[in-house]
Amino acid sequence: MSPVGVIGGTALADLAGLAAKRPPAIADTPYGPSSGPLVAGTFAGRDVVFVVRHGAGHKIAPHAINYRANIAALAAAGCKQVIAVAAVGGIDDAARPGRIVVPDQIIDYSWGRCHTFYDDPATDGLDHIDFTEPYDPVLRRVLLDGADKLGLDALDGGVHGVTQGPRLETAAEINRMAADGCHIVGMTGMPEAALAREAGLSYACLAVVVNKAAGRTGGLAIHAEIEATLAAAMADVEALLGTVVPSCG
Ligand code: HPA
Repeated sequence: MSPVGVIGGTALADLAGLAAKRPPAIADTPYGPSSGPLVAGTFAGRDVVFVVRHGAGHKIAPHAINYRANIAALAAAGCKQVIAVAAVGGIDDAARPGRIVVPDQIIDYSWGRCHTFYDDPATDGLDHIDFTEPYDPVLRRVLLDGADKLGLDALDGGVHGVTQGPRLETAAEINRMAADGCHIVGMTGMPEAALAREAGLSYACLAVVVNKAAGRTGGLAIHAEIEATLAAAMADVEALLGTVVPSCG
């Protein structure tokens, strides 16, 4: 069985319970080094390869992440499925802080990122991937079933708006995103999802709402809210991964 790839972010700096089979190492790919060391080992009885997109110590900003290297490294490690954990802000009321969302759509507001493997006409060829449904429906179902099993009230579906960062958004930007149909906002969902599709990987996002988006905060300072919510929500994320990783086909 192929290992399951797990990408951690602000919402998952390491995967407790992952027993590494060999010393973690930065992967060298045709696109450069992975953001952080790839940790390959056993988690919940299944082979898992874990990488943190912001790198060790959370130093790489969303626009500077080498998304191509991370996806290429997971593919080269034999992963066929990737669960991407992401901290997001809640735009819609249903995406309340602490809640897990399994989005089903994306709007990409990011710019200037290396967003495709089809770069060099001499070597890469070209394919216009179908991205109508950006997340793998089977893997999404695994995440949602796992959440049900644990009694977590995960939100099934939602539009993930991906901004450039690293700054947070203005209230007007969030209002525009809401008018566009976005339910949650994050900074790292793209081009990761599209690259996974180009690489032929099944990819789904486990988004953790850690704050109300800008202008919807009801007075709470965003950073204080993020810190408080992250700490509490991480236990849910780790429990959910422990349930869903063995169920990945
Ligand atoms: N905006 C963008 N990205 C985020 C947010 C937010 O409010 N919270 C966590 N990641």
